[in-house]
Parts: sequence; C-alpha cells; structure tokens
Amino acid sequence: MTDTASAGTLTRRGLFPAEPGRRAGEPATAKRSVARLPAGTPSIVAGQAGSVRFEGIGKTYDAAGGKGAAAGVRALHGIDIEVPAGRIFGIIGRSGAGKSSLLRLVNRLESPTEGRILVDGEDIAAFGEDALVALRRRVGMIFQHFNLLSAKTVRENVALPLLVAGVSRPEIDRRVDEVLRLVGLEGKHDDYPSRLSGGQKQRVGIARALVSGPEILLCDEATSALDPETTLQILALLKDINRRLGLTIILITHEMSVIREICDRVLVLDRGEVAETGAVWEVFGDPRHAATKALLQPLARGLPEDLASRLRPERDRRAGEEAIVELRYDGRTEPDLLALARPFGAVRLIDAALDRIEGHTHGRLVLAAALAPGEELPDLAALGRDAKVLGYV
Ligand SMILES: Nc1ncnc2c1ncn2[C@@H]1O[C@H](COP(=O)(O)OP(=O)(O)O)[C@@H](O)[C@H]1O
Ligand SMILES: [Mg+2]
Repeated sequence: MTDTASAGTLTRRGLFPAEPGRRAGEPATAKRSVARLPAGTPSIVAGQAGSVRFEGIGKTYDAAGGKGAAAGVRALHGIDIEVPAGRIFGIIGRSGAGKSSLLRLVNRLESPTEGRILVDGEDIAAFGEDALVALRRRVGMIFQHFNLLSAKTVRENVALPLLVAGVSRPEIDRRVDEVLRLVGLEGKHDDYPSRLSGGQKQRVGIARALVSGPEILLCDEATSALDPETTLQILALLKDINRRLGLTIILITHEMSVIREICDRVLVLDRGEVAETGAVWEVFGDPRHAATKALLQPLARGLPEDLASRLRPERDRRAGEEAIVELRYDGRTEPDLLALARPFGAVRLIDAALDRIEGHTHGRLVLAAALAPGEELPDLAALGRDAKVLGYV
C-alpha cells in the first residue's frame, strides 16, 4: 500500500487541504457551485457528510419502445435504507436484482419513480443544474470495465473531471499527482490504459473518482473483472481510502466474499426488494432470506469428502468409535476450547472454518469425539446451542 499519510495534504475528511472558509471535506471545486445553490436549499449538516437515505424508493423503467400501455420493468420497490456516513455499505443480489438501478439513483444518473433520496439530508430531486453538478463532484463512481479513455494517458484520464470543472492547470497537476500516489500509480502518469493491467486500470478509475474530492464513492462491480489476487488488492485500497479519508463507499457485488472482506453493512436485494439488511456479521451469522442463503452457498463448506464417505448415521454400540460433532458460531459466541474438550475422554478437532468479521467469530468446527464400546454420548447442549452429531465413524 502506498504511504500517502506522509504527503501531508491527506486529511481524515477529504483529499485536499481546506482553503480558508472551506469546511474540511468539502471539495474545493464544489465551492462555486454551492455558492450558486438556489436560496432556501439547506446546507449540508456538518459531521454527517456522506450519508444517503432511500425513502420508499420504487423504480419502473418504461417498456422497451416506450409503447404507452405496455407495462414497464419494475426494477425496485419499497426500498427504505439508510447508508451511514463514512461506512462501507455493500449491496448484493443476483443479476437483475436492481443493484445498479439503486446505485445510479445516488448521483441521479437515474431518478426514482416513487420515493426520495436524501444525500446529507438533502432531497436530491430538488436539485437544479448547478446543485446537480456539485452533487456529482461529491459522489464519485467506479465501474466494472473501468470506463477509461483509451486515447488518453493515465494523467489525462484522471485530470478530465477537473478540466471539465475549470480547475486551474497547477491545481490539476497537484491533485492528479496526489491521487495517483494514493492509488499506487506513481510513475504511470504518461502510460496509456492499454499498457496497464486490470488492477492498474481500476486504480486509474479510482484516482479519477477521487480527484474531485468526493464524500461518497459508488462502486458498481468494481472487482468483478479482476482475478482473485488483484481483487484483494483493490479491496484493500478501497478500505484504506475509506479509513483514511472517511469516505462513504457504496459497493455493489455479486460475491459474498467481497462483502465479507470489506463491508460494515450489507443490503441483500432480491427482485428489486430488500431481502434483508444489517451488520455484515449478523447477516452472515444468521442469514434469514432464501436469496441470502443462496448467495452465501459458495462460502459454505461441506464435510470433508474422506469423512463424509465413511460417516454412518447410527451408532454401533459394540465397537469403539468416534462421534462427529458439528458446532456452529453465529457471531454471538466464540469457541471455548476447554469447554469443548471437557465432556469427552478424547477429542480431536478435525475441520474448522471460522471467520472473524468486525470482532465477531462465525463459522463451523467439526470435532471427532472418542466413544468407548457402550459409552453414552455426553449431553452436547453444554457445548453450544447448535451442537449436533453429524454421524459416527
Ligand atoms: N435502462 C433500463 N431500461 C429498462 N430496463 C432496465 C434498465 N436498466 C435496468 N433495467 C432492468 O431493471 C432490472 C434491474 O436491473 P439492474 O439494476 O441492472 O440489476 P443488477 O445490477 O442487480 O443486475 C432488470 O430487469 C433490468 O433488465
Ligand atoms: Mg448491475
């Protein structure tokens, strides 16, 4: 990871140093536009820059061809969600669940057909042209396929939003240098995108999104085109940006592993509706909705094959054998090793899949407990709420 803390200009809220009279974290480029906001527009509430609230959101796309009576596509329905400032908020769901539709409402690339969206407490539907321009500087976005201009260098790609905003040349150079350092692309200024790896291209995308000093970063499947190792690097970078800059990140993915890696909270969308939402450790520890369970399936671990093939459902009391005991942890308790061993004469830990998410341990342990011929199985309730015997070997 690049060490940009030493650069001196990186602050907890916002990339660029505050000018006199500018609130920390407020993008410098937004200043003019904000000054031209229509009278009566509420000012951003200090201390919660980067919060998003969806209230009763519905979105129906017009039917293809726009034929009047034909029913449109209902992409979203009845969404009430709060995204707290400064957090990493994950949106997951199958293809077509409405994830992109929901995300694109935040910077008004799309407008809802029902409900309203509040960014920092302001209803963005009320924004006129100037306020909308300012909003789009406050809300950066990165994409699955990077959306870089192939005929422009890294420096030119990143500088583009500032050029459009009429920022002075020296200021553009200063900011482009700073964000490229932040994303670990020093020395790549004059390369063209075709010479970069996928991970480097996404770093350019992130730099371009950060160069306007946003308070919210929207990521639509930003790691879906990357290999697993590069995915981890980009996720680490996003997490670093979130921690250092206090930036709110709203991230879409179809991979639960991405949510587990960096998100604080998760929203599971299913057919345009909220399937469930909550802290990641809670949703992972105790998934309620079928859609969540299906999405978590790839992370689930079956019993190791060698064991599964030998497992007998019934005891053979005449022989010495082992009971295979499974323990599940939903984030509310942790394995107490002494307590696990106490009921048994001899016990082995033979498989374990535990994760720790935000200080909460969840997953599964499998024990093999020795039973002498005729010996009763001890009461498993003492081991944990969900302790159960899978079978005998
Ligand atoms: N511009 C559009 N016009 C018409 N239908 C659309 C448009 N964008 C998305 N949809 C439809 O809305 C639904 C949700 O799409 P989308 O938000 O892209 O889902 P996801 O990102 O979860 O895959 C899908 O049925 C999709 O076909
Ligand atoms: Mg999508």
